[in-house]
Amino acid sequence: MSIHRCKVLDLPKISDPRGNLTFIEGGSHIPFDIRRVYYLYDVPGGAERGGHAHKDLSQLIIAMSGSFDAVLDDGREKKRVHLNRSYNGIYVCPMIWRELDNFSSGAVCLVLASNLYDEADYYRDYDEFLHAQGIGG
Ligand code: TYD
Repeated sequence: MSIHRCKVLDLPKISDPRGNLTFIEGGSHIPFDIRRVYYLYDVPGGAERGGHAHKDLSQLIIAMSGSFDAVLDDGREKKRVHLNRSYNGIYVCPMIWRELDNFSSGAVCLVLASNLYDEADYYRDYDEFLHAQGIGG
């Protein structure tokens, strides 16, 4: 897969003086049905999360609060995306190595995922990931 398939999506935003509202419907605003939600919080300064790829999983990653960077890598090209809006999310397709870093204090990272947790769906070794992408030895 190519990182060019990974796009920042603009989510619906209902602006309201009482506070804004964003909603996400699986299969409609994002290109998969949502089977799992998880979130990262209390991330210490300088910490990095991620550092793996998924074989089949699609995800949408949102900075619900604060900001952080997602670094996406398909083995050939890399891009760094800064996330700092509750109404934007980066769609990450399968077979993309991702790292999350540069977390601001108090940042909350929400992840919507297309499937349940399955350790067998992970590549945690970068060389193994490259090999699966048909790159390198
Ligand atoms: P991991 O996916 O490596 O975290 P990150 O990509 O955010 O750095 O998961 C960290 C640990 O949490 C690992 O032991 C698996 C466990 N875990 C679950 O049990 N369920 C889940 O839905 C997720 C995302 C992780």
